[in-house]
Amino acid sequence: MGEKGQAVSAPEETLIVVKPDAVKRGLVGEIVGRFEAKGFAIKRMQMTTMSRAQAEDFYSVHRDKPFFGELVSFITSGPVVGVVLSGRDAAATVRRMVGATKSWEASPGTIRGDLGLGLTDNTIHASDSQDSFQKEQRAFFNPAG
Ligand code: CMP
Repeated sequence: MGEKGQAVSAPEETLIVVKPDAVKRGLVGEIVGRFEAKGFAIKRMQMTTMSRAQAEDFYSVHRDKPFFGELVSFITSGPVVGVVLSGRDAAATVRRMVGATKSWEASPGTIRGDLGLGLTDNTIHASDSQDSFQKEQRAFFNPAG
C-alpha cells in the first residue's frame, strides 16, 4: 500500500516520439525535460529519420485512414527522437501531459497546448496502450529490413 492506502502499481513503460516540427524548432530538451521533471525515467532514447516502410509499420493502425499518406510523409520529413519512459501509470499519465490531438484544442499546460502547431504537426506522439507501446517500440527501434 502507498500513500492514502492506495495500491502501488509497478512502473510501466511507454514510448514518445518527438515529431519533426518539434525537432526542427529545437524543442527536444524542453519536451523530454517535462517528463524528467515529472519523475519519469528515460530508459532508451534515439534520434533517427524514419524510412517510409518503417513509418508505415509504426502507424499501421491508421493504414486505412484518409490522412495516412500525409501522416507518413510528415513523420519521414526529418529527424525524430524516440524515448522510452518508465514510471507509474506511464501511458495514461504521459498522454495527459501530451494533450489533445488537435493542437489548437489542447489545454494550456499540456505539451500540444503549449507547443503544438496543428494536427499532423502536433509536436509529439505517445503510445495509447501497452499493446501499442510494444508494437511501436519494435517498429521504432528494431525496424524490419
Ligand atoms: P499521433 O498521436 O501521432 O497519432 C496519429 C496522428 O495522425 C495524430 O497524432 C495526428 O498527428 C495525425 N492526424 C492527421 N490527421 C488526423 C485526423 N484527421 N485525425 C486524427 N489524427 C490525424
